[in-house]
Amino acid sequence: MAKLVINETKKMGEIAPEIYGHFSEHLGRCIYEGLYVGEDSDIPNVKGMRKDVVEALKEIKVPVLRWPGGCFADEYHWKDGIGDKKGRKKMVNTHWGGVTEDNSFGTHEFMELCEQLGCKTYVNGNLGSGTVQEMSEWVEYMTFDGESPMSNLRKANGSEKAWKVDFFGVGNENWGCGGNMTPQYYANEYRRYQTYVRQYDDKNPIKKVCCGPNVDDYNWTENVLKTCFDHTPEFMHGFMDFLSLHYYVHPLGWEPKVSATEFDDDLYYKTMKQAYRMEELVSRHSAIMDQYDPDKKIGMSVDEWGCWFKVEPGTNPGFLYQQNTVRDALVAGITLNIFNKHCDRVKMACLAQMVNVLQAVILTEGEKMLRTPTYHVFHMYRHHQGAQLLESSLSGCGIIESGDEKVPELTESVSEKDGVITVTVCNLSVSDAKTLDVQFAEDKEYEVIEASIVGDTDPHDYNTFENPDNVVEKEFAGCKKVSGNKFTLTLPAASVVEIRLK
Ligand code: AHR
Repeated sequence: MAKLVINETKKMGEIAPEIYGHFSEHLGRCIYEGLYVGEDSDIPNVKGMRKDVVEALKEIKVPVLRWPGGCFADEYHWKDGIGDKKGRKKMVNTHWGGVTEDNSFGTHEFMELCEQLGCKTYVNGNLGSGTVQEMSEWVEYMTFDGESPMSNLRKANGSEKAWKVDFFGVGNENWGCGGNMTPQYYANEYRRYQTYVRQYDDKNPIKKVCCGPNVDDYNWTENVLKTCFDHTPEFMHGFMDFLSLHYYVHPLGWEPKVSATEFDDDLYYKTMKQAYRMEELVSRHSAIMDQYDPDKKIGMSVDEWGCWFKVEPGTNPGFLYQQNTVRDALVAGITLNIFNKHCDRVKMACLAQMVNVLQAVILTEGEKMLRTPTYHVFHMYRHHQGAQLLESSLSGCGIIESGDEKVPELTESVSEKDGVITVTVCNLSVSDAKTLDVQFAEDKEYEVIEASIVGDTDPHDYNTFENPDNVVEKEFAGCKKVSGNKFTLTLPAASVVEIRLK
């Protein structure tokens, strides 16, 4: 019999709200159409930002938004995206479909979007093809409130007050699209560039994100940290606040062969296996980080994660537009449980990407919009944001075998905030419901105050513009109280369940 034991007296640390972050790149229809339509659009907007999309995103409490890329970031020259829109310099978006980027969404628009969402700002700088001066001036433009060439330019462009930049990425994927660098070369560049990311606001220092590894490139993690810590171990604190990790679920290899909706049981389990691999990646990269930073002052920022499938038929291959099924909801649930349980090291994560690209939470078509199954998981899991992780463990669960690989039948995480305990459980089995006994440590009378589920349906199900509520978060009726601190959950196959108790 599967059993979940929760020790509510043992708090394991705060689940940083930023673990529930998002990523928006100048890629396909993420920014243009998805988030930004311009003030003259017939689609209802506030200062060019889609009203329907912003409202839906506010419901999932977006804590942080990363921009402008991705690979785009290392080709982006921020000065092209300020000033009168008609006069903004155009560029070719070489990474994503070769389309012309008119730069009508730039720094001011990003800051406006974050203000509307009420979220923190994560700006990714250009180390691959930009200069130290360009990066340094961008930071001055955004964050310096006094009299200076860059702050005067910002004021002339209509923003009197400086903005708060919460996080600043010093390059993106510099092992690949961001310059094809070796770890030692990048780390030396990181040391130099980050020096000029000046802190103009002592009360709100910018947290700097160093480019970390791709998937299981432990050599990158080791050598970047080694080079950064060389000579000056004390150098790192305040000079590096985060090390990133990028990991995408590609069940059939890097070149996607089938779309998000085409899968059989075997491919479903390959996807689960790859999603669950995040556990190993976070653990092993953390172990390397522990050697340099045993006090865990440097957070891991998994600032690109999610499923990457073949684009929807008939769409531009460079736009990475894909559908999103209940299988994606499981990937989100499994991954977020892993991040919660590693909240001592994982301090930020950004799903790729927010709208219309890869494992998006929102899809749009003209004036229509839908929430994907992944959106509904983020909505359920929002209760974990800023909560205290509680000690919990599963036993007696089955192991699902897919080829040579094994995945657990269930995953979970448990947290507490304001006296309410949130339990999230994923049943990875594509075919079997699972009974789970839940037992609390304290001899108390607990009551379920809320129970919801995404799933309990065909895992291939998804939402369309004609039927946008085919997969939604529903009330979960499979929770029975056995005694004061004991419950039994009947978890349908391929489902993500949340129970909240007091
Ligand atoms: O999210 C799409 C791309 O994936 C990003 O631009 C890049 O950083 C990663 O390789």
